[in-house]
Amino acid sequence: MKFFVDTADVKEIRELNDLGLLDGVTTNPSLILKSGGSIAEVTKQICDIVDGPVSAEVVATEYAEMMREAKVLAKIADNVCIKVPLTLDGLKACKTIRTEMNRQVNVTLCFSANQALLAAKAGASFISPFVGRIDDTGADGMDLIAEIKQIYDNYDFDTEILTASVRTVNHIKQAALIGAHVVTAPPATLRALVKHPLTDKGLEQFLADWAKTGQKIG
Ligand code: E4P
Repeated sequence: MKFFVDTADVKEIRELNDLGLLDGVTTNPSLILKSGGSIAEVTKQICDIVDGPVSAEVVATEYAEMMREAKVLAKIADNVCIKVPLTLDGLKACKTIRTEMNRQVNVTLCFSANQALLAAKAGASFISPFVGRIDDTGADGMDLIAEIKQIYDNYDFDTEILTASVRTVNHIKQAALIGAHVVTAPPATLRALVKHPLTDKGLEQFLADWAKTGQKIG
């Protein structure tokens, strides 16, 4: 499973990348707002740190303007993955970006299996189902991940399932159990994956016993 971080915070991205944990990054207009920087500058800084795909989102809602923005974003770096919304114009832009620009596309704001089917038919590199926002409505976001996995397997689609709107470590475990290709999570959630009280307790005991031996290694 690939790990993407869902942030435009360059410091966080650098730290997680140094840990060897990152396969890519996802941003969106809200995260760019939070970063306080311009989309061009922030995306360039992120692409200089991370080798994998860095999703940068178009904000136009009509095809022609989406394509213009996609070309601007693509010039920032070779690993910019163009993010488009799951609308008819977005799907049309996805198809063109994939076939004429040979660039990766992340189709975002997916809330149904049929939307994911359309994105795969448009040649999307990634489909982003928002599991946390589905959970917020009282439904189970993981049911959608399982449905998309089955549909994509049925037809051998190449589109990768990018589990998004992740809120908990349990979302990551469930997505991995289902076989989603990628998860994008906030920095704190990725860091929380390592935590277990028995690990902390065990380490404390080993260090205490080691101190009593009076030994040093090397
Ligand atoms: C994914 O690409 C989105 O940026 C993100 O996961 C949205 O998450 P949110 O629902 O926490 O805003």
